[in-house]
Amino acid sequence: MNKKSIADFHRRLHRWYAAHGRRELPWRTTADPYAIYISEVMLQQTQVKTVLERYYFQFLRRFPSLPALAAASRKDVLTAWQGLGYYNRAANLHEAAKRCHGTLPDTVDELMALPGIGRNTAHAVAAFAYRQAVAVMEANVKRVLSRIFALEKPDDAGLWEKARLLLDTKEPFDYNQAMMDIGSMLCARRAPRCPECPAQNICEGKASPQSYPAPKSKKAPPLRRQWIIVRRNSKGEIYATPRKGKFLNGLYHFCEGEGGAERRVRGCVYLGHIRQQYSHFTLEAEVYMENARGQGKHWHSPAQLKKLPMSAAEKKILQLL
Ligand code: ADE
Repeated sequence: MNKKSIADFHRRLHRWYAAHGRRELPWRTTADPYAIYISEVMLQQTQVKTVLERYYFQFLRRFPSLPALAAASRKDVLTAWQGLGYYNRAANLHEAAKRCHGTLPDTVDELMALPGIGRNTAHAVAAFAYRQAVAVMEANVKRVLSRIFALEKPDDAGLWEKARLLLDTKEPFDYNQAMMDIGSMLCARRAPRCPECPAQNICEGKASPQSYPAPKSKKAPPLRRQWIIVRRNSKGEIYATPRKGKFLNGLYHFCEGEGGAERRVRGCVYLGHIRQQYSHFTLEAEVYMENARGQGKHWHSPAQLKKLPMSAAEKKILQLL
């Protein structure tokens, strides 16, 4: 691969992007760094379709600016994030907004100093919000680079080096967006569409694209068994508290514990079973209802309960009630 073939690739890539790229995606047509930042954090772990259909516009309507987000309560931010998963993203966004004092920084280093912004997101914000000539990196781009450079076991340092080498510094915005689109629209994991790809002239992996990166043998995530008890008082109020700690911080949950619960669930009514897949484990839980005494801050009427920020597993439990 030489300078001329890379320049040729850039020309093909821009032509392809103009004809087929997702140029109308709303975070590509706005100049608002805050909106672009929100989109990039949402897109870290969530697919474009879900972000577009259910979260991006709704979140921006609810919190239209960095100061509006900073002024919101953690509970409101988590409620807006409900269903998107990886809830520490929401907590970090909120914390970052408070630290920014109204303006999102425009350098990679300052962006990376904010909570929840790693190198990938900092580069994406710098490239898309501030039009800087830095390469972006996300799962699709990693696959494209691995194939173009025939890397079986790419490591981060190697990928960043290749990304820098290939970057079109004259048109970094379109180049980076196009690399993401090539990754999601053409250079698919299973059935890549090489004949349509603008990287054909330089791609060293095109004879055997599925070999790059080499498929990893995926281990099944560990299974966690729990019992969950929904406590209800004589007024029909239900006990739920916000979680503390790293996992689902701030989201409301019921009483729960690990393993068998023969003694704890005696006298309870069995409601059913739930299963929830998390990134690092699978939860299988038996859910019970207990008539209990108590009232006050953590006891919620059924209407209040529905408005509390909760993750998908708790939503499934509500369905059992
Ligand atoms: N994933 C992360 N950033 C993206 C973007 N700007 N467009 C599409 N998918 C993305």
